[in-house]
Amino acid sequence: MSLHQTLTILTTLLAAGSAVPTPSPTTETSSTFPHLNALAQAKGKLWFGSSIDTTSSSVQDPTYMSIFNTASIFGQTTPGNTMKWDYTEPENGVFDFALGEETITLAKQSDKKVRCHNLVWTSQLPTWVSEASWTKESLLEVMKAHITKEITHYGSDCYSWDVVNEAINYDGSYTDNVFLNVIGEDYVTYAFQYAREAIATLGASADIKLFYNDYTISRPGSKVTAVLDLISKIQAAGDYIDGIGLESHHTDTYYPSVSDLSTVMNQYAAKGLEIHITELDVACKSTPCSWSGQLGQAQAFYNVIHACMENDSCRGMAFWDFNDKYNWIQPSTNDGEGDATVLWGNYASKPALTAVVEALKGESCSVC
Ligand code: XIL
Repeated sequence: MSLHQTLTILTTLLAAGSAVPTPSPTTETSSTFPHLNALAQAKGKLWFGSSIDTTSSSVQDPTYMSIFNTASIFGQTTPGNTMKWDYTEPENGVFDFALGEETITLAKQSDKKVRCHNLVWTSQLPTWVSEASWTKESLLEVMKAHITKEITHYGSDCYSWDVVNEAINYDGSYTDNVFLNVIGEDYVTYAFQYAREAIATLGASADIKLFYNDYTISRPGSKVTAVLDLISKIQAAGDYIDGIGLESHHTDTYYPSVSDLSTVMNQYAAKGLEIHITELDVACKSTPCSWSGQLGQAQAFYNVIHACMENDSCRGMAFWDFNDKYNWIQPSTNDGEGDATVLWGNYASKPALTAVVEALKGESCSVC
């Protein structure tokens, strides 16, 4: 029986009485926070990273920024919002790269690689795209212009691009959006083709990897089958795709096992894809997250990092934020769900942070 299971039973038994004792957490700063990037790189991975949203108040928080800016803690970042279509092309043909540039500038200060995110997605798409009436040709033209401009503007400042984001639903069907409705399922392949062509115009030195990024693709099932089909289709059309991003938004009560993760990672690897853990966070279904919830959360973080460390094709891992105060899943807007990162809002550490370190070191989980 795992510590988590034991404590869940104990918590239930003691529900009416005293609570299970909890160890005192560390209040983290940049001098105490574990060197996750150095640990990952010591084991041959490219990086351990965290997203940054330069439109959020997190960037005004000195403790947050000193942790974020420490290269041995985070060696990679992804703009949480500012390279999405609504930011970069708010009107047809009017491009604005200023906010995206802020992330590139920040990343360079601490030598971080940038996963640029994203080019074609259902969400955060301006209404001039989603609500206009297009022909297949006119929408393909707009999509091509958008992809080409973003890729050529940022160039080699991007280690990789998420070319298409979340194209498949949980049941394996295609996500409903204007691209699907007007162009058909092939919009995905066209997007990858245009992205590859844009990179080619940058010359031989531009080595920018092209990724498909999605959620709930960490365990076998209809969605993974459909995503594998989608990858086969892209690959049949040309040498357009380099990798797959497993977003990894999980919860304390529903998360993949190491065995599930290794099954799907082997399937992606068999297609020749580089694998990244791109947006790792684990929300507690009810908040404030109970001790038992925190241990479930620790197990979820552990499983994801452990599975990546064990798989040679899994090259890098990143949190979708590292402090509950700034993570996108806030209880007030998510039916009470939240507390999804390794640190409380006041920088106190959770068992999940210990679990991440143990997984990176190849140790068993002492808090799961
Ligand atoms: C989220 C951002 O973190 C939020 O700030 C924004 O309001 C919505 O989008 N999948 C993705 C990310 O690929 O771009 C999303 O980011 C989270 C889910």
